[in-house]
Amino acid sequence: MKKVITYGTFDLFHYGHLMILERARALGDYLVVAVSTDEFNAIKGKICTYPYEHRSQIVRALKCVDKVIPENNWEQKPQDIRSNDINIFVMGDDWKGKFDFLEEYCDVVYLNRTEGISTTEIKNNIKEFLTDDR
Ligand code: CTP
Repeated sequence: MKKVITYGTFDLFHYGHLMILERARALGDYLVVAVSTDEFNAIKGKICTYPYEHRSQIVRALKCVDKVIPENNWEQKPQDIRSNDINIFVMGDDWKGKFDFLEEYCDVVYLNRTEGISTTEIKNNIKEFLTDDR
């Protein structure tokens, strides 16, 4: 069995998230998704709309996802790969090259991002909409 892992925040779950998870799963037979915790996001200076519990439950409910684990820090990836018997590490190409050092543990694949959508863009669109005083 080929096992795949990927990481993300998955706040305001959107179409681009679904596409990367479905494509990641299609590379193997089993998909583990590490969802960043609120504490880890705070360290990164990232504020989420939905708490970890909700973000991880949404991801866990997807047909293409077999297991969800928390992402607590930058250093845990080699240990996650080992303890889950991972064959392929997947990230969107906004991270291209950043995780090549994991090739020591498994294959590293960067998939094209879906164009025109991101959590940041959704938040900005809503902000613009709310401040538009037409
Ligand atoms: N992703 C993607 N296509 C998009 C948005 C995200 O393929 N349009 C991928 C990212 O490359 C990453 C995963 O989805 O591998 C989780 O990304 P995340 O950072 O949680 O989502 P973003 O929408 O990029 O969030 P933000 O705007 O906060 O960075």
